[in-house]
Amino acid sequence: MSETRSVAQVYHVELGPRSYDIHIEPGCLDDLGQAMGKLFASPTRCMVISNVTIAPLYMQRLRDSLESAGWHVSECILADGERYKTIETLGFIMDALMDAKLSRNEPVIALGGGVVGDMTGFAASCYRRGIPFIQVPTTVLAQVDSSVGGKTAINHPHGKNMIGAFYQPKLVWVDSMVLNTLEPREVKAGIAEAVKYGLIRDAVFFDWMNSNMAAAIDLDADVLSKIIHTSCRHKAEVVMADETEQGLRALLNLGHTFGHAIESMTHYSTYLHGEAVAMGTLMAARLSEQLGFAEPGIESQIRVCYEAAGLPVDVPAFHADAWLDAMGHDKKNVGSRIRYILLRNIGEAFLAENVAPDAIRQLIDSYQSVH
Ligand code: NAD
Ligand code: GLY
Repeated sequence: MSETRSVAQVYHVELGPRSYDIHIEPGCLDDLGQAMGKLFASPTRCMVISNVTIAPLYMQRLRDSLESAGWHVSECILADGERYKTIETLGFIMDALMDAKLSRNEPVIALGGGVVGDMTGFAASCYRRGIPFIQVPTTVLAQVDSSVGGKTAINHPHGKNMIGAFYQPKLVWVDSMVLNTLEPREVKAGIAEAVKYGLIRDAVFFDWMNSNMAAAIDLDADVLSKIIHTSCRHKAEVVMADETEQGLRALLNLGHTFGHAIESMTHYSTYLHGEAVAMGTLMAARLSEQLGFAEPGIESQIRVCYEAAGLPVDVPAFHADAWLDAMGHDKKNVGSRIRYILLRNIGEAFLAENVAPDAIRQLIDSYQSVH
């Protein structure tokens, strides 16, 4: 443990029998084994699921921590990338769990970003009808968003995250120091998901992010700490109020209806998730202005913020039919309607159920789509 280590902060996600803590502390990766003593009567077997990029960086440290606390550790190492968030990879994880003979009370630990976390959580929800799982998020995006809240999933060729479950972790263990090895582009994509909390429910945080963006993408420890803490607090509050997305939680999907379409139309190979969400958010802001829900100027305010973060802001050109088709497959739709999260103001989002397809065509036309 480093002597310069900051004080740990814990946020409790109260969900009755599915409650858990989010523990945030720089350097805490080395302490997970010890912490698991509070969750499990005695250490037995566990499996760490990670990928070929992250495992060489952090698996040994995590393994040392677990083994020194008495755990017998097996590993399951996945290929790296969103394109492997598939049913085939899920099968690979299931084979590993069967081979390791994990019983119903023995945990899996997701060591990775949102892809590893979403897949591990889904595997944990299915294997033996549900085993405990722990999130050790290693990307900005996973530390500010995906590791909290229990959305787990894999992709289907017809759409992203189409096969999944709400399945809460037993613990989220956040060590911001592991972010130091992350590619700068990944840092920026994660920042987009943190900005989202400002846009939907915290205008003060949005302004603060704007003022501190250079330090944020430079991973300044104090700025990063505030971003992770504020994001986890917001995420926990939203999940506690609406665990299974009956209302409030849908607001966290700001930018995602358009963003998922961008990812799908570009075959998940051009933009990172957070980048697509950033462009999707700009589209949602423009639509909010176009429909008269927001005063003109919101889109440009958000654009300035994303530009400072080095995020892409030029929405790719596709025909309106391609957009509508791609969004028609979005799992958040109810019946044939497409739901949009729109903005009334910075810090105030709402769910719009009945946006006419013509309004979407007008929006797409405003980007002068050509093909
Ligand atoms: P990711 O998991 O693909 O990680 C990004 C890249 O960074 C990968 O190449 C990974 O190997 C690498 N990496 C991870 N940690 C590293 C580290 N510490 N050092 C060096 N490299 C590291 O991407 P992501 O942005 O973390 O997650 C995106 C996924 O999260 C998408 O599939 C998205 O659907 C999902 N998501 C889920 C939720 C949710 O609530 N469950 C929310 C938002 C996004
Ligand atoms: N990231 C969206 C949600 O957790 O609901």
